[in-house]
Amino acid sequence: MGTKKHNKNIVEQFSKQATGYTSITSHGDSLEKLISITSASKNDETLDIACGSGIVSCEFAKHTNHVTGIDMTQGMLDEAKKLQTKINLKNLTWQIGDVESLPYGDNSFSIVVSRFGFHHFLNPLKVLSEMKRVCKPNGIVMVVDVSLPDSKIKKYNKMEKNRDCSHVAALSLTEFSSLFEKAGFKEINSDFYSMKIELYEQLKASFPSDPIALEKMIIADIGINDLGVSVTEVKGEFFLYYPIQIFSARK
Ligand SMILES: C[S@@+](CC[C@H](N)C(=O)[O-])C[C@H]1O[C@@H](n2cnc3c(N)ncnc32)[C@H](O)[C@@H]1O
Repeated sequence: MGTKKHNKNIVEQFSKQATGYTSITSHGDSLEKLISITSASKNDETLDIACGSGIVSCEFAKHTNHVTGIDMTQGMLDEAKKLQTKINLKNLTWQIGDVESLPYGDNSFSIVVSRFGFHHFLNPLKVLSEMKRVCKPNGIVMVVDVSLPDSKIKKYNKMEKNRDCSHVAALSLTEFSSLFEKAGFKEINSDFYSMKIELYEQLKASFPSDPIALEKMIIADIGINDLGVSVTEVKGEFFLYYPIQIFSARK
């Protein structure tokens, strides 16, 4: 798919997802971990790439001097502004744009973060290189996203493409490591958390191409784990456990 068509797809998909996105409980998980890994402080200027509804941006705004959030979907940025107002934060700027080419000078931010964006990028290396370019020397670049062993990627992508047609591809652990190396980072640190989502909470906020096939595929994976999300049934409820990897490196 060409860039223009893909970007149109992203904006269409996230304009629909925008209103329900922030209310998914697990989207607020482990934010304190991201703050701790970056050692965020009031001396930091933060950039949040593909910031969406601003959950990560607002968390960093509580701990750093200023946060800029950039995203290509206006509907998501509108939700971000609502969240900012709700928690009464003043130190944020929202910008519309494509993160493949960042409208900021070299060495502008001390923390550059991106959560749940990389699986939507056609050219993840270009985005990571841009993140590095705008990061100050000795600043920190952090990427947080679903990452799976190579053996699970194919089936996971099939599931996720059905749930969200703007999904491009989850990157495996080895692909993420090699991406950071190709972008010129030397010491790469990684951390992990598991993001638990109840199946119907997830489906209610999603716009699958084939909802019946999606539901079937997920439930059929209980006890098998071909999808890599450890689907589990507890008292008639189904839970997915997304493996979330946190990669960080100093410039
Ligand atoms: C799954 S949401 C993640 C939002 C947020 N980072 C979070 O962690 O909650 C993905 C976001 O990436 C944005 N996005 C995808 N590709 C983009 C691109 N090339 N440039 C800017 N935003 C992009 C979408 O508009 C959407 O808001």
